[in-house]
Amino acid sequence: MPHPVPYQGSKRNIAEHILQFFPLDTEGLYEPFAGSAAITIAAASRGKAEHFFVNDLNEPLIQLWREIIHAPSRLSANYAQLWNAQLGRERSFYDDIRSLFNETHRPELLLYLLARCVKASVRYNSSGEFNQSPDNRRLGRNPLQMKSDIFGVSHLLRGRTALSAQDFTKSVETATSRDLVYMDPPYQGTSGNRDGRYIKGLNVETLTELLGRLNERDISYILSYDGHCGDTKYGDALPKKLKLCHLFIDAGVSSQATLLGRSETTFESLYLSPALVDRIELSPKFHGSILTKERISQLPLELA
Ligand SMILES: C[S@@+](CC[C@H](N)C(=O)[O-])C[C@H]1O[C@@H](n2cnc3c(N)ncnc32)[C@H](O)[C@@H]1O
Repeated sequence: MPHPVPYQGSKRNIAEHILQFFPLDTEGLYEPFAGSAAITIAAASRGKAEHFFVNDLNEPLIQLWREIIHAPSRLSANYAQLWNAQLGRERSFYDDIRSLFNETHRPELLLYLLARCVKASVRYNSSGEFNQSPDNRRLGRNPLQMKSDIFGVSHLLRGRTALSAQDFTKSVETATSRDLVYMDPPYQGTSGNRDGRYIKGLNVETLTELLGRLNERDISYILSYDGHCGDTKYGDALPKKLKLCHLFIDAGVSSQATLLGRSETTFESLYLSPALVDRIELSPKFHGSILTKERISQLPLELA
């Protein structure tokens, strides 16, 4: 699967599992918290939706998406030029590019920074400037590999994707009951005001209100929201009145815990809307269950 935007928190590793819950007749896929748009890319490459709405509040990131989809040659060439120019002076070059990005917001500069920065993790200071440090052990993705990923995604999404950089609540206004909304908001456990991980922290009440309104409109949606790793639990469960079906996906051993010398499995919480549960005829026995990779691979048979 091509994946041109390196991004901490990308759902690339569990995308295949999430796709299993897509209704067969999905027309549009909305991704209001797109980041690296892992689910959009996976859905496009597996023919799981006809057209796509990619949104993220981070305007330069959406500008980068515009360039990936509509100007893949120019972006690949610009990335290769930056990557080659860094050789021999990697550290000072990164700092210069970071300053230039903060002045200009040019998309190829953001791509270079994401490829080179620590954990591919976007961080901004209080003035909104990108301030993440470089990972000095890596040069960033090789330009040939990057070009292949950029062209792969452009080919998948061009001509059937709308891009926007607005608040998530606005970005789903046009969704209908024939579409599917996939939401992956910043984690409750990591989105406090002091945390610069995402461009803007997220208010849980605003999210809950939106989910209620989507239910009233009969919209099918999937929400990735918090989870737990070993004994550590991130965030509270969502209110019962939303009548969501809550599942856990076994996402495998946590690389963070492994770094700390522990072997712990991460479980990703997935919430399915009532309209989606009806639409795919998911049995109530799934509610609250932990879905291992084997169990999810059986799902198409159970749903058939
Ligand atoms: C957990 S990341 C999404 C990762 C994504 N699923 C992927 O595969 O890369 C959350 C994203 O939400 C965006 N975001 C934060 N607040 C937002 C808001 N109010 N409206 C829209 N996007 C927002 C952040 O910029 C970030 O890219």
